Amino acid sequence: METGKAEIVLNEHIKSDYYKVIFNAPHIAGFVLPGQFVHVQVAGLRDRILRRPFSICDVTETGLLTIVYKIVGEGTKVLSELKVGASCDLLGPLGTPYSLPKDDEYPVIAAGGYGSAATYILAKLSKKKGILLIGAKTEDDLILIDDYKKLGFDVKVATEDGSVGIEGFVTLLLQDFFQNSKNSKMKFYGCGPNPMMIAIAKMASKYEINVELSLDHAMCCGIGACYACVVKVKDNDNDSWKFARTCREGPVFSSDSIYLG
Ligand SMILES: Cc1cc2nc3c(=O)[nH]c(=O)nc-3n(C[C@H](O)[C@H](O)[C@H](O)COP(=O)(O)OP(=O)(O)OC[C@H]3O[C@@H](n4cnc5c(N)ncnc54)[C@H](O)[C@@H]3O)c2cc1C
Ligand code: FES
Repeated sequence: METGKAEIVLNEHIKSDYYKVIFNAPHIAGFVLPGQFVHVQVAGLRDRILRRPFSICDVTETGLLTIVYKIVGEGTKVLSELKVGASCDLLGPLGTPYSLPKDDEYPVIAAGGYGSAATYILAKLSKKKGILLIGAKTEDDLILIDDYKKLGFDVKVATEDGSVGIEGFVTLLLQDFFQNSKNSKMKFYGCGPNPMMIAIAKMASKYEINVELSLDHAMCCGIGACYACVVKVKDNDNDSWKFARTCREGPVFSSDSIYLG
């Protein structure tokens, strides 16, 4: 884990409320594993001192680090207004990563919103190219589809309003793969809003399948010190429950360890 200033080399609008920022961050980019995040001190956020966590969408060998973000509040709004040449302090890479599929395993990734940014490096590094099942409220929240296609991934879409793909939740698409998983080698991953992650974990438990899910939780320190980000998970040693830090033991948890309510 490193910290240091990183200069913005691109900060552009993708669509609707989504943006892409690329930092020159050689102090972090060379060490990133799939599903890890950076904690960003957004420059110019005067009265808000906390960093904001963002999944690392992509890195290059030359030290560039990409984040894809949605404007939801003050921090992301100010980030979207930063110009090329501005710098933010980046702390990372942080968090427990996804594990890569074995060479003969077919990766099935279920993502929603900016979740598809968190799984992009995983897709890039997977030997066997698989499928992205992407779920969204409307067409506005479908991002990075072409980027996955360029990697050789198939893409299937579910929107709640039926504007693109099938009408309904991403779990509708996932169900077919869960049903067929006994006959073929598949490895399952997910990232998206927590209600989507819980729905996937519940369905996975019915099929006795394990899915690596990345959970979203508000964070303070990002490095395991403050316990602001705890979630309830199984304590297999004691056959009971315990609290785990999303920033340290997570954000990636196995679906069979998550508390389903
Ligand atoms: C591990 C991790 C990876 C993430 N990756 C990405 C990413 O790749 N792209 C991206 O756009 N965002 C990502 N997020 C969410 C991002 O951190 C928040 O959207 C951001 O901190 C909001 O900052 P803000 O100042 O704009 O909003 P704030 O003013 O802090 O909050 C605005 C609204 O957003 C809600 N909010 C704040 N943080 C979160 C959160 N973590 N989850 C859900 N709602 C939240 C608040 O409750 C409030 O309603 C990630 C979060 C985590 C924990
Ligand atoms: S944010 Fe402080 S322990 Fe996770």
